[in-house]
Amino acid sequence: MTRGIGGAGLGERSEASRRHNVPMATTETFTRMDESTAEQWAEIGKQTFAHRDRVADSVLAMLRSLEAITDGFAVDQLEHSVQTATRAERAGADAEVVVTALCHDIGKAVSVPNHPEIAAAILKPYVRPEVHDMIRVHQDFQGRHYYAHFGGDPDARETHRAELDPEVFSLAERFADEWDQVAFDPDYDSEPLEHFEPLVREVFAQAKML
Ligand SMILES: [Fe+2]
Repeated sequence: MTRGIGGAGLGERSEASRRHNVPMATTETFTRMDESTAEQWAEIGKQTFAHRDRVADSVLAMLRSLEAITDGFAVDQLEHSVQTATRAERAGADAEVVVTALCHDIGKAVSVPNHPEIAAAILKPYVRPEVHDMIRVHQDFQGRHYYAHFGGDPDARETHRAELDPEVFSLAERFADEWDQVAFDPDYDSEPLEHFEPLVREVFAQAKML
């Protein structure tokens, strides 16, 4: 049987492919990888690139889902996210830093305990290494402001000093101290998510590295 890319049979377009307007495969392709050809992989690469807009669509949907998470904070996680990004943008941060600020807690849509790693993994291909580092370590930098309540080390950020360039360490400090930890204010005039959508689409338009 001829199968579409991703395993859906022709005539059985998945909900995801309909949503992203993905055309069905027009040529036969493999049903097991050990029977694949270079031409089939070239077609997969071409279609993946052609439909790269779905990355931004997924990120925006995950951000919207954060509105349902408050968990005792003064604002929900979507407001916390746009407030962090608004503070970064108003401080003059560039597009990659602003989008990373917007997405820094996006992992909470899946799991709170390991949310920094989830967000860092999502952003890694799309931002420069120092911006990825900023988000990768953000929880330990935030710890200055609350780890003591859990018996943790408020200076946990110091465990990262040797591995980070001084400029990256400063960026991570600025992110945590000036933009993230203060972004729980219900009275702050945050920009709406829509304000950041063009930047999200710009940053997630193309992977810099895989
Ligand atoms: Fe945060």
